Amino acid sequence: MRCVKDKVVVITGASKGIGAAVARIFAAEQARLVLSGRNKARLEKVARSLDLPKNRVTTVVADVSKLVGMRKIISTAYRKYGVVDIFINNAGVGLRDTVINTTEEEYNLMMDTNVKAVFHCFKELLPRMMKQDFGQIINISSLAGRMGVPGLSVYSASKAALNAFSEAVAGEVRNENIKICVLSPGSTETDFGSGLRRRRSRAASGSTVKLTVEEVAEAVLFLARQNRNAFTSMADIRPLITKK
Ligand SMILES: NC(=O)c1ccc[n+]([C@@H]2O[C@H](COP(=O)([O-])OP(=O)(O)OC[C@H]3O[C@@H](n4cnc5c(N)ncnc54)[C@H](OP(=O)(O)O)[C@@H]3O)[C@@H](O)[C@H]2O)c1
Repeated sequence: MRCVKDKVVVITGASKGIGAAVARIFAAEQARLVLSGRNKARLEKVARSLDLPKNRVTTVVADVSKLVGMRKIISTAYRKYGVVDIFINNAGVGLRDTVINTTEEEYNLMMDTNVKAVFHCFKELLPRMMKQDFGQIINISSLAGRMGVPGLSVYSASKAALNAFSEAVAGEVRNENIKICVLSPGSTETDFGSGLRRRRSRAASGSTVKLTVEEVAEAVLFLARQNRNAFTSMADIRPLITKK
């Protein structure tokens, strides 16, 4: 397995939830980190909690849905470390509601955060990774992108778009020694969507068994640690439902 010690790992949406757990697991592996999010106080709290020396972690406050935000993250990483080994597009937003009750503004928010941000990332980062002759991008999708969850229709559509987008671009750069991977977690214990959740659709399916953020972070680390020639392009992680 590949060792990620000293690798430069950029994590978006690192201020809480899955992204913060991914930051913790890569910090434990002694990677060098760039953590990004919009909430400065929360982001810095996560960075401090990692107990890393200042030259091994940096924070970038940025909105990934805007080109200027993605540029800021990538240019900070290159300015600080001169290289990006692994970029994890984890920032995401989900609004649980019926399509009838979803506004155009909410649609745009989910599409811009979950898909357009990754478009900006590909456009800005892939030329740099091609120049350095290696790199890996891990996009955090969702099982909702595989099966279209009622009550999460726009979110499902955004993650399905992310899956196809990632698969297509992976083929475009496969011969450039660049891996683009997608990890699709099932329902995970975070406060994901809580700020936006309004009316819970009666049709919405909700599993009571959830993954922990650490379990998802371990799956991200697995993708990052695959050997040079091994390339898991799409992976799902779901909770095992055990009999009592
Ligand atoms: N939790 C689940 O059940 C679940 C299941 C499958 C997939 N996922 C996916 O896993 C990823 C992380 O979800 P989570 O559960 O950890 O959610 P979370 O606890 O709500 O965290 C979301 C993170 O994304 C950041 N973020 C959101 N919009 C952003 C923007 N425009 N610019 C920059 N950062 C932004 C937030 O940072 P700030 O608030 O600081 O901006 C926060 O750090 C998402 O892509 C989600 O779709 C989650």
